[in-house]
Amino acid sequence: MLRFIKVRHFRCFEGFETEFDSGLNFIVGPNARGKTSLLEAASILCRLQSPRVNALAAVVQHERKGFAVEGYFQNRHLQFYFSRARKKLALDEVEQKSALEYLQVARVVYFSNADIGMVRGGGDGRRRFLDYIASQRDPAYRVALRAYERALRSRNLLLKAPSPRWREIQAFEEAMLVSGRRLTETRAALVQALEPFAASAHHAISGARENLGLEYVAGNGPDFAADLEAARAQDARLRQTSVGPHRDDLGFFLNGLGSDDASEGQQRTLVLALKLGAARLLEAHFGAPPLLLVDDVFGELDPARRNALLEALPVGSQKLITTTHLDWRQAETEGRVLRFDVRGEG
Ligand SMILES: Nc1ncnc2c1ncn2[C@@H]1O[C@H](COP(=O)(O)OP(=O)(O)O)[C@@H](O)[C@H]1O
Ligand SMILES: [Mg+2]
Repeated sequence: MLRFIKVRHFRCFEGFETEFDSGLNFIVGPNARGKTSLLEAASILCRLQSPRVNALAAVVQHERKGFAVEGYFQNRHLQFYFSRARKKLALDEVEQKSALEYLQVARVVYFSNADIGMVRGGGDGRRRFLDYIASQRDPAYRVALRAYERALRSRNLLLKAPSPRWREIQAFEEAMLVSGRRLTETRAALVQALEPFAASAHHAISGARENLGLEYVAGNGPDFAADLEAARAQDARLRQTSVGPHRDDLGFFLNGLGSDDASEGQQRTLVLALKLGAARLLEAHFGAPPLLLVDDVFGELDPARRNALLEALPVGSQKLITTTHLDWRQAETEGRVLRFDVRGEG
């Protein structure tokens, strides 16, 4: 469990710290008080990744150089400092050159009211979700992802030159092939492993007999090298790389039908089931449930789905739940309540 967290120069927080209980923790306050920021800080502390944005620079407090987060997960002391110029990691006061050991400490699944964007929006959010879960199941995944992103950035940069230097471009393509294959394999395996967990979570919370299906859609064919080569002329024209895992996607199906036509209620249930399925998958993999960050979800659900969801969350998991009001909570529910009444101070 995450026992304690302390943040500095993080989004709206100049400085803030708090303790958490092992079970239910409610973070209650009106809008724009920093509830989402606190959950995002917990995600970044535990996973070095935001579930919301790709670039950590976005969460540095305005006018500041960098942010710091630290905390205790069980009795492990996690510390992370980030600025555009420098990153620093420490585990139990020992500075870490690599994130591998640090990232073994805590697993996290993030639920958000904005998750419906995973069904309605572009592929970016779906890829971020796959990366978030994949890097927890497989620590080496993150290394491959960073290598792929670096090589892709370099290839795109070279494509922007007035006359592209194909020799150099080819060198980066080779790096993209190695790391890209790794991403494709891991994402395909993840989606396959996740599907039954998501489908059973969907049955549990929808009460309906619809079957949820997932499909991994690769951004390149089985021969990535040939695809890259074939796309060269087009990529030179577009000045960017048109094939590869950065174009991967995840498809959702209800009884075999695409999710575009599903109602808003069905789409919300679908993404809840997806997150719940991810939590169950991580629980099965590691033998302990992940930390659950639940942002503005409960207040939006009708009472039947709310209770179904509360009951479907893995037993014994630690939960940080934000909400603008607790009217919906049954009186007998236990849990710690943290009130955010003052702007940005908690
Ligand atoms: N990088 C940043 N620097 C300073 N303030 C920020 C930054 N990012 C977000 N904020 C501010 O933080 C406040 C709290 O946001 P948020 O955590 O989303 O609140 P809540 O979830 O309680 O509605 C907002 O007023 C927002 O404008
Ligand atoms: Mg919020």
